[in-house]
Amino acid sequence: MDLIQAEIDLLSDSECEQIQARVQDLQNHWIRRDPVLPFYTLAGASYLDPFWYYQKLLSIHNPILSEHFNWLHQRCCEALSNYLCEPVSCHPSLALPGFHIFFSHESFAREDAASAHWDLQFFEIQWRSEDQPDFANPISFTVPIHLPQSGGGLNLWEISQREFGSLSQQERERVRKSKTKHFFPYSNGRMVVHSGLHLHQIAPFHMEDDKEMRITFQGHALRFKDGWHVYW
Ligand SMILES: [Fe+2]
Repeated sequence: MDLIQAEIDLLSDSECEQIQARVQDLQNHWIRRDPVLPFYTLAGASYLDPFWYYQKLLSIHNPILSEHFNWLHQRCCEALSNYLCEPVSCHPSLALPGFHIFFSHESFAREDAASAHWDLQFFEIQWRSEDQPDFANPISFTVPIHLPQSGGGLNLWEISQREFGSLSQQERERVRKSKTKHFFPYSNGRMVVHSGLHLHQIAPFHMEDDKEMRITFQGHALRFKDGWHVYW
């Protein structure tokens, strides 16, 4: 079973540096996601924000993301289109793919720092009647922009939502502890594509000092009648 569907070289080192600088320039628009931990997003995300608030956020943040990262969204859609052999574009009424931003904190190195989850954020969206997306074959993608010196990656387990989705949280955790954890290391600029429907988590990471940061570009895609659309 291929837990990772594709790895695609998307960005050069200098493009990653350029994006990192621009993300930092836009610090005023970051959204703090934890009262204690230094975890931020640029900008709204369907897995984090209730839909009414998500819509409010996207009306503010989509123009900002478009102004600064339109070329990145286009690059991302082209790469996914080459991989999927179908047209791919940004969904016209949802949040554009954005960024996870982390700074140093000892908690991020803990095994349970990030939740092990399936990407079921599409159930949180109030779809338009004309949308009719295919929920059976979604994809999720991450493009690392700036990783800590000690690296970063994704942990995955062969625990599919289809097979284990009805388990309670407690039972799911018991199954997870009985299964092998697969670690996939990230590289700056290299897009990683997976279904989101195998249990996964941001792998624990460690930063040497307060100057380090971890930035990734994040999004999801679903297939519609007129092709695939990406969103966050
Ligand atoms: Fe996820």
